[in-house]
Amino acid sequence: MKPQKVLFVCLGNICRSPTAEAVFRAQVAAAGLDHVIEIDSAGTASWHHGKAPDPRSIAFGASRGYDLAPLRARQVRLQDFTDFDLILAMDAQNLADLEALKPAAFRGHLGLFLDYAADLGVREVPDPYYGGDSGFHQVIDYIEQASAGLLNALLKQ
Ligand code: 4NP
Repeated sequence: MKPQKVLFVCLGNICRSPTAEAVFRAQVAAAGLDHVIEIDSAGTASWHHGKAPDPRSIAFGASRGYDLAPLRARQVRLQDFTDFDLILAMDAQNLADLEALKPAAFRGHLGLFLDYAADLGVREVPDPYYGGDSGFHQVIDYIEQASAGLLNALLKQ
C-alpha cells in the first residue's frame, strides 16, 4: 500500500482528535503498518497548545486500552496541508474552519472522519468537553468504528 500521512483535527486537540490519534495508531500497529502510516492530531483553536489531553480522555482511553498520556496539543498550521495526505475533521465546524484555511494547491483528502463509518449513521463526533462520562465512551465507540473503516480504505489504495 501507498505510504500515507493522516492528521485528525478537532477544536481543542485535547479530547476527540487525540483519542482518534491513539485509537487509529493502535489499530495501525496491530495491523503491522506503523512503518507506512504516519499519524498526528491538531486543533483548530490554539487554547490548549502544549497541553496534555483532557484527564477524562486520558482516563477513559486508558480504560479501553489506549495511551493518550504522551500526546501534546498543537494548533493546525498551513504546513499541514503540505505534510499530510488525509486531514480528517471531527465535526462540521472543524471541517468548515479547515476548508477556510486550505490552500488551492492541496491535493489530499479533507473530510469528516466518521464518513469512514457509514454504518453509524452519524457524521460528527460529538464534543464531550462539557458533558458527562458517557460522552467520552461514545467518542471512543465512534472513533473505533471509523478507524477500522479508514484502515480498510487505506489498505485498498
Ligand atoms: P476537543 O474538545 O475539540 O474534542 O478537544 C474541546 C476541548 C476544549 C474546549 C472545547 C472542546 N474548550 O472550549 O476549551
